[in-house]
Amino acid sequence: MLLSALLVLGVCLIPAHSKPAGEQLGSPLLQTCFEEAKKIVDDAYKYSREESLRRVRKEVVRPQDALRLLKQPRGGTRSAVRSADYMAQTLRLLQERVHHVHKRSFNVTDLLSEEDLNKLSEITGCASQVTFPSCRTTPNLNRYRTATSVCNNIKNPRLGSSNTPFARWLPAEYDDAISQPKGWDITRRFNNFSLPLVRQVSNNILSTTDAGVVNDREYTHMVTMFGQWNDHDLTITPFSPSIRSFSNGINCDESCEKTEPCIPIPIPPGDPRLPTGRNSCIPAFRSAPVCGSGYSAYNFGGEPKKREQINALTAFLDLGQVYGSEEQLAKYLRDPDSDGGLLRVNTEFRDNRRELLPFHPMQANMCATRRRVTNDTNAREVPCFIAGDVRVDENIALTSIHTLFMREHNRLARQLKRINPQWDSEMLYQEARKIMGAYTQLFVFRDYLPHIVGPEAMRRQLGRYPGYNANVDPGIANVFATAAYRFAHLAIQPVVFRLDDNYRENSRLPSVPLYEAFFTPWRVVFEGGIDPVLRGLVGRPAKLNTQDHMMVDALRERLFQFVMTLALDLGSLNMQRGRDHGLPGYNAWRKLCGLSQPGNQRELAQVLNNTNLARKLLQLYGTPANIDVWMGGVAEPFVRGGRVGPLFACLIASQFQRIRQGDRLWYENQGVFSPAQRAALSTSTISRIICDNTGISSIPTDAFSVISNRNRLVRCSSIRRLNLFAWRDRCRGPGDNCRGVGEEEAVNNLEETQEPREPQEPQEPKSPQAHQEPQEPQVSQEPQVPQSPQAHQEPQEPQVSQEPQVPQSPQAHQEPQEPQVSQEPQVPQSPQAHQEPQEPQVSQEPQVPQSPQAHQEPQEPQVSQEPQIPQSPQAHQEPQEPQVSQEPQIPQSAQVHQEPQDVRGLQDNEIH
Ligand SMILES: *[C@@H]1O[C@H](CO)[C@@H](O)[C@H](O)[C@H]1NC(C)=O
Ligand SMILES: *[C@@H]1O[C@H](CO)[C@@H](O)[C@H](O)[C@H]1NC(C)=O
Ligand SMILES: *[C@@H]1O[C@H](CO)[C@@H](O)[C@H](O)[C@H]1NC(C)=O
Ligand SMILES: *[C@@H]1O[C@H](CO)[C@@H](O)[C@H](O)[C@H]1NC(C)=O
Repeated sequence: MLLSALLVLGVCLIPAHSKPAGEQLGSPLLQTCFEEAKKIVDDAYKYSREESLRRVRKEVVRPQDALRLLKQPRGGTRSAVRSADYMAQTLRLLQERVHHVHKRSFNVTDLLSEEDLNKLSEITGCASQVTFPSCRTTPNLNRYRTATSVCNNIKNPRLGSSNTPFARWLPAEYDDAISQPKGWDITRRFNNFSLPLVRQVSNNILSTTDAGVVNDREYTHMVTMFGQWNDHDLTITPFSPSIRSFSNGINCDESCEKTEPCIPIPIPPGDPRLPTGRNSCIPAFRSAPVCGSGYSAYNFGGEPKKREQINALTAFLDLGQVYGSEEQLAKYLRDPDSDGGLLRVNTEFRDNRRELLPFHPMQANMCATRRRVTNDTNAREVPCFIAGDVRVDENIALTSIHTLFMREHNRLARQLKRINPQWDSEMLYQEARKIMGAYTQLFVFRDYLPHIVGPEAMRRQLGRYPGYNANVDPGIANVFATAAYRFAHLAIQPVVFRLDDNYRENSRLPSVPLYEAFFTPWRVVFEGGIDPVLRGLVGRPAKLNTQDHMMVDALRERLFQFVMTLALDLGSLNMQRGRDHGLPGYNAWRKLCGLSQPGNQRELAQVLNNTNLARKLLQLYGTPANIDVWMGGVAEPFVRGGRVGPLFACLIASQFQRIRQGDRLWYENQGVFSPAQRAALSTSTISRIICDNTGISSIPTDAFSVISNRNRLVRCSSIRRLNLFAWRDRCRGPGDNCRGVGEEEAVNNLEETQEPREPQEPQEPKSPQAHQEPQEPQVSQEPQVPQSPQAHQEPQEPQVSQEPQVPQSPQAHQEPQEPQVSQEPQVPQSPQAHQEPQEPQVSQEPQVPQSPQAHQEPQEPQVSQEPQIPQSPQAHQEPQEPQVSQEPQIPQSAQVHQEPQDVRGLQDNEIH
């Protein structure tokens, strides 16, 4: 039978072998299928775009639209997603045709020659997703990051770059082993139990009321929001641009049918908010697949045939959310009229004379929420803001942090220009951006992660900088993006606090319920700017995730509730997303991390230190093995000193270990900054950045710890400034024989890159009026080019006592915080714990400790062994591809690019 199928196909396919390579596929059938597929996909995209715009214009944006539009792929991401859709649909049609003739299941790709597959790959644009760009032509490769981070790793240029597949630390588990989400077929059993409805889990386990919220006694709401901010540097998973099924045209919002890319969330009986029944569901969309994964069954790298998802952002701590992770966007975000390396700012509005983010250039405006929220039909609406990450408008706390860092970039660029008037715009931009990247690496490693994963995981995996290792894949793991790094959803307060100069609530500008703070940039423009919001972040505590009070209603029942229709449930979405991505269950991840795998209620109760919660979970799941990993992870009690349990501490620490070690341009890597620059950077703090860019004049020195006797409000003048002396460049002109900034140390770890690295080409000295300093508000107190490193020590200091305890050295993170946490049992940390990187983990985790004292630390046999995450063997380790290197320019096949390009580089007039 297969033979006859082959004969049918053979008519069309076999000639392909003999044809010389050309633009067209050799096979008429393949060509026909491709053209049909392309039309289906293009039509679906077009329909979806028009429908979305129509809804926005009519102001009937539904919550699911908001989420979907937010996750809309653009630019390079869109090309990646579209290529995958072309490929998948071509193969689906081909399979259908062949199957139609002979009712027998087979893999259609088995019937295609290698050459046909290559053609298909090229014509769909998939090939360009995996070709290796040359790094030879990249300017300043050893000094500055590219927007996409392509060529951070020189031998394997796409490692960690934007628009590449998420890494898999464990193979995906799909319903059909290839592509269907887990639990797609509700009768299907895993470990003898079917999966519960995610909404049921959300209702039974996550639900809390605002009144039930417990405040964190140590950490501020800034910790929570910094987590979201940081997540938006690292991960975004695009949806398909299509809102209707490719195979049957069903509109995902109008049907509860499960058909790609619709992945509706069913409503369980007796739901407290939502109607039950066949036609009741929360609409949701699948994440877009990677080219050739899933049924496309053509292996472009990655676990053969299993569906993989795309990370549209770079894996590096590079503040992509400020600068953009694609060239076009990055370019758009720069001020075209400035020769000072500045970022574009808002030209209509200011915040007490300080800069605001520019407005998004699209016509349709989903941030026009003011009239609806205020009931004032005459209220002036404003567009969404635009920034390096599309989620900038998601809530006003996040918007405020975006604004803060954009201002800091511009402040740095102006300072640098004052110090080095000869630098051109590009150099000023890149040097300021580079400093900003170092900030975020410091803030994340020194200040943030210790509060999250706790001192033990810090010591075990994130201690002293081990140096760059080109063999470490920094790529973000699917489980990190889809589960572990979503832990902070349970630390979000139901309110965006706004505080006045005295850090008190003020009725003139009261705090805002979170559900009225989504997509409301007008609050930043018209309601007092970012200062009250930032004071609220550093002056009010985070929500504490407790096992009884997990997720506030603003997220579970009112997410993106603009109008009276169905609001989303973030808890359900997280679990549904995990199933969409085929994440294995709770125990598989525990095992990977060297933790015990509870097999029954008693053992789960021990791990969770909570019998009631274990019982409720097993009523839903039947077995601990099936618990959705996000759910299981957030249910665990915290590790000591942290805000996640042992599982997420392991996963998060493992990810950051890789992000740091696999980053050639990590700020501590030799030659990236000069020692003097590194020393200067080590004093930087979030509090200082707030002081330098807002009207806030007093602030706690540690923005992450609640205000207390140990962390008092101090005047900004007592917080150390970043001293830019070390950035003064002695190269003044083309004749100078001098080295550029940051190049005192040999850049000797860059193997093959013998680029003629002329130290930043000496610029024509700019005319002296460079000093004008456009409109920096607090210009006056800016120290003139400081003469000595200590110039900044702030002479005035009236209130001597509260010495900011800014950690002085990079290693300070050994543990800055917690003096109070009793005393660290110095314990068993095996001596090698420090040098670690990742030895072949192997061997045995000590199985559940038998000793009687086992109950004080129920879980964790963790003792000494490093939870090892296997180097994902497959993950884009470059497919063979011998001819790789000569491929200079990503060649796009002609057909792929027909969508009209937005001149501003923001593909399509898509909304977010
Ligand atoms: C399709 O390919 C997969 C992976 O190679 C294989 O396991 C499966 O049996 C194949 N299916 C058929 C019908 O040949
Ligand atoms: C599933 O249930 C059957 C019958 O109750 C039992 O024999 C089998 O061991 C179970 N399998 C697993 C994986 O628990
Ligand atoms: C707007 O009107 C709705 C319904 O009439 C009401 O529930 C809400 O409180 C009003 N909001 C404001 C800010 O007045
Ligand atoms: C376990 O739970 C008990 C009571 O709920 C609590 O007092 C104790 O601190 C918890 N232990 C841990 C390690 O979380």
